[in-house]
Amino acid sequence: MRIFSGIQPTGRKHLGNYIGAITQYVAGQDRGQAIYCVVDLHAITVAYDPPGLREAVYDTAATLLAAGLDPDRCIFFRQSDLQEHPELCWLLSSVTSFGELNRMTQFKEKAGAQRDLVSAGLFAYPALQAADVLAYRANEVPVGDDQRQHIELMRDVAERFNARFGETLVVPEHRIPEVGARVMDLQSPERKMSTTGGSPQGTVYVLDDPRNVSKKIRSAVTDSGSEVRRAPEKPGISNLIEILAAVRATPPEQVEREFDGAGYGAFKQAVADAVVDYLTPVRETYKERRSDEQALERTLAEGAEKARAIASDTVADVRRAMGVGPVR
Ligand code: AMP
Ligand code: TRP
Repeated sequence: MRIFSGIQPTGRKHLGNYIGAITQYVAGQDRGQAIYCVVDLHAITVAYDPPGLREAVYDTAATLLAAGLDPDRCIFFRQSDLQEHPELCWLLSSVTSFGELNRMTQFKEKAGAQRDLVSAGLFAYPALQAADVLAYRANEVPVGDDQRQHIELMRDVAERFNARFGETLVVPEHRIPEVGARVMDLQSPERKMSTTGGSPQGTVYVLDDPRNVSKKIRSAVTDSGSEVRRAPEKPGISNLIEILAAVRATPPEQVEREFDGAGYGAFKQAVADAVVDYLTPVRETYKERRSDEQALERTLAEGAEKARAIASDTVADVRRAMGVGPVR
């Protein structure tokens, strides 16, 4: 089984990214051939700072390595090191529907947030994402809930390609965790935790210092009740229950049972302590990893070579099937 996922090098990674996606990447290394990519070509589709982008790639790479990605057990690389991704994106754009791209909620959200320019790249973003995955003929894509629509689109692209040009691509499945697929902002629990759309006090960053992490969780917005249980009218408490369940890898029902009658204060303190313990080793290893940029470059370059060996075969097959280029 082949697993593929991509992560953006924008901003700092938060607890939602960590619980929803990064822990699944780490677990994927034991479940099959795992391939992960820092998607810098996606990051350039909105306004950004060029020197900052390179730094952000290192930050993200060091975070993933600190979280437990092991370059001996997975392929880990930077998207822009491979020309196969943009080439395949262009080839597949011929079987990607304009109407479908136009319905993507993430495009609409991001387009609405741009001040100067809504780029064609932002519109085509899901086509590049489709190319990322389809280039590896991956079976499974671990992501958080917000990527559901993008995975649906790449499945349609693969199916349309195969129907028109012959069986060439694998139709991938999403892998969205049952608990923690949508970690909410601690201050506005009706919104997902996010670097761009969230509130600073409601977003726990993986690299926040422990005092800050603890404070943010202890001051999370809750309701006026006192019962620790999940309910639609209790989005704040429900979010904290899911966070604790994900961090401890136990079912949320168990968290509810354990804190039955405990009150919000004790419960929040327990969540704060658990999240601090959970993130501390990552933050410490991160510092070591991040300080050696040459080592990071070497790791990414070795990953790119392994990735190219797979992706170039797929691109050759796609070109052949589409009648592009000379007969080979
Ligand atoms: P990004 O940083 O946008 O590349 O997102 C990386 C991964 O984190 C993707 O698989 C997202 O679906 C996931 N993700 C982002 N925000 C959240 C959240 N609030 N809760 C759970 N997963 C998330
Ligand atoms: N769009 C994804 C996000 O915002 C990142 C991404 C790019 C991705 N390429 C991918 C995720 C391929 C899964 C597979 O999180």
